[in-house]
Amino acid sequence: MASGFADIEQHLDATSGARLADYVEFLRIPSVSTLPERAADCRRAAGFLADRLRQAGLEHVEVSETEGHPVVYADWLHADGAPTVLVYGHYDVQPAEPLELWEKPPFDPRVENGRVYARGAADDKSNVHVHVQAAAAWLRIRGALPLNLKYVFEGEEESGSEHLDRWLADNRERLAADLAVVSDTGFFEGNLPAITVGLRGIMYAQLDVSGPTVDLHSGGYGGAVRNPATVLAEIIAGLHDADGRVAVPGFYDDVRPLSQRDRDELARLPFDEADYLASIGVDTLWGETGYTTLERRGARPTLEVNGIWGGFQGEGAKTIIPAHAHAKISCRLVPDQDPERVFGLVRDRIAALAPAGVRVETRYIHGGRPSLTPIDHPATRAAAACLREVFGTEPVYIREGGSVPVTASFESTLGLPVVLLGFTPPDDHAHAPNESMRLDNYEAGIRTIVRYWDALASTRLR
Ligand code: BES
Ligand code: ZN
Repeated sequence: MASGFADIEQHLDATSGARLADYVEFLRIPSVSTLPERAADCRRAAGFLADRLRQAGLEHVEVSETEGHPVVYADWLHADGAPTVLVYGHYDVQPAEPLELWEKPPFDPRVENGRVYARGAADDKSNVHVHVQAAAAWLRIRGALPLNLKYVFEGEEESGSEHLDRWLADNRERLAADLAVVSDTGFFEGNLPAITVGLRGIMYAQLDVSGPTVDLHSGGYGGAVRNPATVLAEIIAGLHDADGRVAVPGFYDDVRPLSQRDRDELARLPFDEADYLASIGVDTLWGETGYTTLERRGARPTLEVNGIWGGFQGEGAKTIIPAHAHAKISCRLVPDQDPERVFGLVRDRIAALAPAGVRVETRYIHGGRPSLTPIDHPATRAAAACLREVFGTEPVYIREGGSVPVTASFESTLGLPVVLLGFTPPDDHAHAPNESMRLDNYEAGIRTIVRYWDALASTRLR
């Protein structure tokens, strides 16, 4: 087949070794955004990216300050008359703990079986590196890009993008564009190329239950006072009903019902429940009655306990009534739920479940709104065509249960249509031990983005 990209692809084929080495170097930086002691590493990852963007030939490269970790900005604006695309990804990663479950240390990347293993290998350093490499290849081989690009790589996605909305508002003018390409998603089960058309929002909270001023002897006081750990368990148990629905009054009020078309589209996806069960090592699935697994994990709202602690956790036994007990709780939200409103409802429900004899406090940690993007936008169709050309398979359209809070902000704050396009495999173990990225997806991802810029250059976006 005569490809219009033979020159760029030849260059990519010839440089894969150096590229992998650079990707691995990026993965060595432990840019865990939620841990204060990693702030300098986050800054180092930002500096690394800025450096690579500059080397690629991008302009106005800047490590731009926020009240948290910096945003890396760069652009290339010389394609007069062509569209302008804003590209988003994040250079921060989730904490790597528990370290003992990693076969090799999380920030000492290992290349094996066609994959690279490291924290952030997939989420989201793969997609970020893909973008930098695609631009570098265009500029190196053709000396110019076919359209205008603006890059926004943030460093706080994994901790709630707390300062990004402010940064977007402060930089609204320089971010003017025709489209946002958000690259923080991946492929469907079986590694089918996918375009994500829905992401859930999130409301993250902490629940603190406190009782006596200090731990008490459980013999001396047991039977006389409320136990905060027991109360915590009772409250948590009161947050779901027997049908797996979230037992918080008002929780479903703003939930847009699934249309028959939404349900038909999800039902058409090739999803094998037995494979899915085996891949996660459980014997039965669970969730809200009346919805399929794909509906429950992508298109319905949920409430999950993310962590729970309190009292004695060491070896052996210690007989106390703990002075306090805690839980991290988050809800995944769907259109048209609002994180702050949902927080109020959850807080009120928890307060109603709290008995006398303890103090219960619910605190908001962060939130992000859900998003749904149109399947039939010309930019979405162009992305599908490029995926088909490079991967040889028609992509599927999926609704993901995860959250990328900035997506809704691009739509509402900047008024941009959004395409969610990323290349991570479904078995990447993102957020878990032994996270990995398939190198064939990474390489083909670069080739997809190379073509996508060309396709968008001649697509009418407005
Ligand atoms: N890349 C993920 C989002 C994602 C997850 C997309 C699964 C597609 C499938 C992103 O980096 C992420 O994990 N986001 C957090 C956001 C939160 C901390 C605000 C999430 O979803 O937990
Ligand atoms: Zn991510």
